[in-house]
Amino acid sequence: MANDGMTPARWRNTSAYLQEVFGSEDEHLAGLMERAIAEGLPDIAVSSDVGRFLQVLTMMAGDGTGARVAIEVGTLAGYSGIWIARGLRQGGVLHTIEYEPKHAAFAQRAFEDAGVADRVRMHVGAGLDVLPRLVGELGPASVDVVLLDAVKPEYGGYLEIVRPAMRSGSLLIADNALGANWWIDDPAGSDPARDAMDAFNRMVAADPAFDAACVPIREGVMIARKR
Ligand SMILES: C[S@@+](CC[C@H](N)C(=O)[O-])C[C@H]1O[C@@H](n2cnc3c(N)ncnc32)[C@H](O)[C@@H]1O
Repeated sequence: MANDGMTPARWRNTSAYLQEVFGSEDEHLAGLMERAIAEGLPDIAVSSDVGRFLQVLTMMAGDGTGARVAIEVGTLAGYSGIWIARGLRQGGVLHTIEYEPKHAAFAQRAFEDAGVADRVRMHVGAGLDVLPRLVGELGPASVDVVLLDAVKPEYGGYLEIVRPAMRSGSLLIADNALGANWWIDDPAGSDPARDAMDAFNRMVAADPAFDAACVPIREGVMIARKR
């Protein structure tokens, strides 16, 4: 069939293809979200192809030898955290922040089951509360990867706090850059979260401290490299 542009069916087929070809999961990742949902956690983790993408980005960080220090805001069940933890260099650490104690407890067990708990530090609390303390502990220019995946209208606030801790060459990654229960081409003013993400995307794209791009997989993954 000719390439006559994107259709809803083609988008679904493309997403399924990306998960099949690039998102293969081992026994620790496969079924993790099903188990989490059965325990009452929401079904809002990244897809497996996005997880794999996060792992590859983490491996490419730290001057190409893997991130030494990564921060994730929004742990949920630990699904994306396992992918990131597997991309760290030997001795690397992922600091992951989760507001809901129930989610954090589930994720801690998932990190233990997946054999990555030794390189993951769980912080329970709100991103805007935990980040200032964490950034103070880590120190300036110490972080290689930051994944934002918690409260969408707070992404700008997370970035403001974490920015001094990001070293030159580090990666800022923002999930839901194009959509969640809204989509980026909805009219401005139709959803505060859409408008906040639009403003965040435009702010990072125009920020002279970053070189930014966005990959439209799943709900959009924005990536910005700090100069
Ligand atoms: C989209 S989910 C994260 C998904 C996870 N990154 C994954 O892909 O496996 C968002 C998570 O952020 C948590 N959260 C909500 N408000 C938060 C806040 N203010 N600070 C940190 N986490 C928050 C929610 O409880 C939820 O577990």
